[in-house]
Amino acid sequence: MWRIAIAFLLFGSLCAVDRQNFKTCQQSGFCKRHREISKPTGYEVISDSIKVNDTGLTALIKNKETTLTISIVSLKDSTVRVVIDENEGALRKRYQPLDALTEKEPAQTKFKKSKLEEGSTKLLTGDGNRIVLQHNPFRVDFYVKDKIVSSINSKETLHFEAFKKKVLLTDREKGFWEETFKDIKDTKPHGSSSVGVDIAFVGAKNLFGIPEHAEGYSLRDTRTYEPYRLYNLDVFEYELNSPMALYGSIPYLVGVHQKRSVGALWLNAAETWVDVESTTADKGNLAKEVLDANTKPREVPQSNARFYSESGLIDVFITLGPQPNDIFRQLAALTGVTPLPPAFALGYHQSRWNYKNQKDVKEVHEGFVKNDIPLDVLWLDIEHTDQKAYFTFDKTEFANPEDMIKDLAEKNRKLVTIVDPHIKKDAKYYIYKEAKKNKYLVKDAKGENYEGNCWPGDSTYIDFLNPKARQWWSEQFSFEKYKQTTNDVHIWNDMNEPSVFNGPEITMHKDAKHHDGFEHRDVHNVYGFFQHSATFNGLKARSENKVRPFVLSRSFFAGSQRTAAVWTGDNKADWGHLKQSIPMLLSLSTAGLPFVGADVGGFFGNPEEDLLVRWYQAGAFQPFFRGHSHQDTKRREPWLFADNTTDAIRNAIKTRYAFFPYWYTLFYEHSKTGKPVMRPFWLEFVEDESSWDEDRQWMVGSGLLVKPVLEADSKELSIYLPGKRQVWYDWETHKARPSPGAVQIPVGLNTIGLYHRGGTIIPKLSEVQLTTKDNHEKPIVLYIAVNQKGDHANGTIYLDDGESYAYENGDYAYWGFTFKKEHDYLHTITNKNLDKKGKFDSDVFIEKIVIRGAKFYPRNAHIFLDDFSPEDLEFEFNRDNFIMEIANPGAFVTREFRIDIHS
Ligand SMILES: *[C@@H]1O[C@H](CO)[C@@H](O)[C@H](O)[C@H]1NC(C)=O
Ligand SMILES: *[C@@H]1O[C@H](CO)[C@@H](O)[C@H](O)[C@H]1NC(C)=O
Ligand SMILES: *[C@@H]1O[C@H](CO)[C@@H](O)[C@H](O)[C@H]1NC(C)=O
Repeated sequence: MWRIAIAFLLFGSLCAVDRQNFKTCQQSGFCKRHREISKPTGYEVISDSIKVNDTGLTALIKNKETTLTISIVSLKDSTVRVVIDENEGALRKRYQPLDALTEKEPAQTKFKKSKLEEGSTKLLTGDGNRIVLQHNPFRVDFYVKDKIVSSINSKETLHFEAFKKKVLLTDREKGFWEETFKDIKDTKPHGSSSVGVDIAFVGAKNLFGIPEHAEGYSLRDTRTYEPYRLYNLDVFEYELNSPMALYGSIPYLVGVHQKRSVGALWLNAAETWVDVESTTADKGNLAKEVLDANTKPREVPQSNARFYSESGLIDVFITLGPQPNDIFRQLAALTGVTPLPPAFALGYHQSRWNYKNQKDVKEVHEGFVKNDIPLDVLWLDIEHTDQKAYFTFDKTEFANPEDMIKDLAEKNRKLVTIVDPHIKKDAKYYIYKEAKKNKYLVKDAKGENYEGNCWPGDSTYIDFLNPKARQWWSEQFSFEKYKQTTNDVHIWNDMNEPSVFNGPEITMHKDAKHHDGFEHRDVHNVYGFFQHSATFNGLKARSENKVRPFVLSRSFFAGSQRTAAVWTGDNKADWGHLKQSIPMLLSLSTAGLPFVGADVGGFFGNPEEDLLVRWYQAGAFQPFFRGHSHQDTKRREPWLFADNTTDAIRNAIKTRYAFFPYWYTLFYEHSKTGKPVMRPFWLEFVEDESSWDEDRQWMVGSGLLVKPVLEADSKELSIYLPGKRQVWYDWETHKARPSPGAVQIPVGLNTIGLYHRGGTIIPKLSEVQLTTKDNHEKPIVLYIAVNQKGDHANGTIYLDDGESYAYENGDYAYWGFTFKKEHDYLHTITNKNLDKKGKFDSDVFIEKIVIRGAKFYPRNAHIFLDDFSPEDLEFEFNRDNFIMEIANPGAFVTREFRIDIHS
């Protein structure tokens, strides 16, 4: 009976998101309590409790009911950490998701000066930033170059529910000691322990971040709206333009300002809501701090974000920039970067729920060969397993997985299999048996193994909070354990919010118990993070740390980028979802997670051919590029459509492969700088305020602007060219355009709006083969886009073996190219080794050089190589369009050359 009810519920929710399954703020006790705070909560610093040492300050703060401790410490690179916790003697320890950080105890740095005054304590950091603790009312202000840029508790909303002894339920306290949603009771044995405070971003017109929501890129004012919710949930066919929670959470946002951007990481893994308010500085308590001879507070934009979390403590990292580059570097120092992915992972991935059997797999991947469409990875969804027991293969449909994997590998392709965190409850299943025996399963409130319903039916869940369980999980990927797999098999962790079909809000009960006495409510948002980290470590270990793993996860948290790529879950085949994918991916990129994509074509439903083509064109310029679809949809392999559709899809995928050298270089550079690969405009054009909230276009790196066609039956595509005094070149026609400005281009079936930014050089393959491996070491074309002044352009390229960790020992090459006007009659193109530690000597040669914006009349050109006298080069010059093309210059990427162009 009960099962039937579940099946029914599931079926119902397949048609569209069932909003009723998910809480609103009003339906969440702590959210409601925090949101209703309208009067100052009255915290002040107890002056004689203040203690300052070399690197930090601690003090007690109190209001009528509660006394708390605060610590403020200075970290390296203009970063400050503020922690607010209960004072000594708390009834329970609060959970901190420190594994999200690259260092559990980030190193503190010395203050230059500290000064205790009447009413405030001033701290000057080594980087020259100032932190001011205001005593009454309690507030922490942050100054960069004497300008206030941020403040904690300026709205006096600090609210901290200390643990207390259980008392008789009164009406007022009902939500405090238990809560029921849709007939499922949360027993709250420890009562409520929520925390919340406001953070102001002075001067910031826009806030960006806190993924994951199907919302616009710029966060909206929530005063007359639901707050943004961060609670990892399995949401079928999610609604667009909604702050409802989705699969993952990164509690990080950034306030953007032309000169002083600021980031804030709210390190808390419990259910969190974020209210956003867009205002001006005269409206709040900071007016006085903003006011000076040149500044009128009412002209200073201000954004306030107010975070409240169900449990845990207040642990905030403020990164003080001040430039966009600094913001990304500072976040990367806290939560890390994506290590260089294996090259294949940047190719095209073909997935479906489900490729039915080995024959199906073979036909599909051979179909890509027959139809001359590149493909690197074929994916197997849940049906490939022996009755949803992960780490196994169905005995009849996938009887010889080794053959299948070998067959793919012979064509230089990989296989990805799905491995979810729910474990089939089956006494004969070895994973279940071992996990149970070792006590690696999550427990319910009563202390029994937690059981929920998921794909296999009755399921248990691995307690990834337990380090031993993680170690054990990692070992399950070894070749002895995960039988018949090889280094060519990589992993997809799905349903790891975790999804529990019969649980509250389709996830785990909050009173379920994890390792070390924590409740699920404390750790919910970091559960998936621990699963995919353990998966990654397992894949790395199975190859004795030789082969770079690829792991895709649906759920994520701050720090997930270190071990996973992420996609935007169960989207739908409609134009709205295609458009929505852009701000979603930009928000993830902003929050430090760069390897992201959306299911091309839409997971649910059947895309019309026009939409499918446009989606491939967009996906080809997004970091993770995978076609995937639901089992109820029609088959969608690219050749199953009209010839012109197949041709356009082939073109899009080949274009992706052609830009591979650029993508790979950008991922390498991300690992060094923290800058995302898919970039919002404010990262590149902070001077152009009107472009900051752009959510239909993006940059790939600093050189390539992308605007895909996003409407049915488009005849024209309108593109905004951001920046001040920049020049942009249409990728196809080379036509130059100034910025800021807009341009309209006619739309054909193969149109992707692509502009090359003046001042940059982009390497591209001259021809593409059908896999990234077949493209390895193949010749490139250098596209040089001369800057607006006509005197400069530069770019980089990174090369290595594409699959191993040899690059960590110097087996790589990182080179730069520069185009320069030496004087009126001489322009040069040179290359240079940018990192002498890199010893990789490749044979990659430059087959052609294309100079866009060549505003000179070349008479002759020659190349100088080591030890040789100059050789004449042949070239073509187009006077109308200022294009110069040098064919076969005879230059290698990793051997020094200089080309002189005389005019
Ligand atoms: C200085 O104070 C900070 C903040 O309380 C603390 O974390 C740090 O350990 C202290 N440093 C030393 C050397 O005691
Ligand atoms: C593709 O070809 C079909 C006929 O095979 C035609 O009806 C359709 O308009 C073409 N689509 C486009 C976008 O050119
Ligand atoms: C490229 O040129 C820009 C602008 O002059 C400069 O900031 C950047 O450092 C250069 N990059 C390299 C790799 O030389």
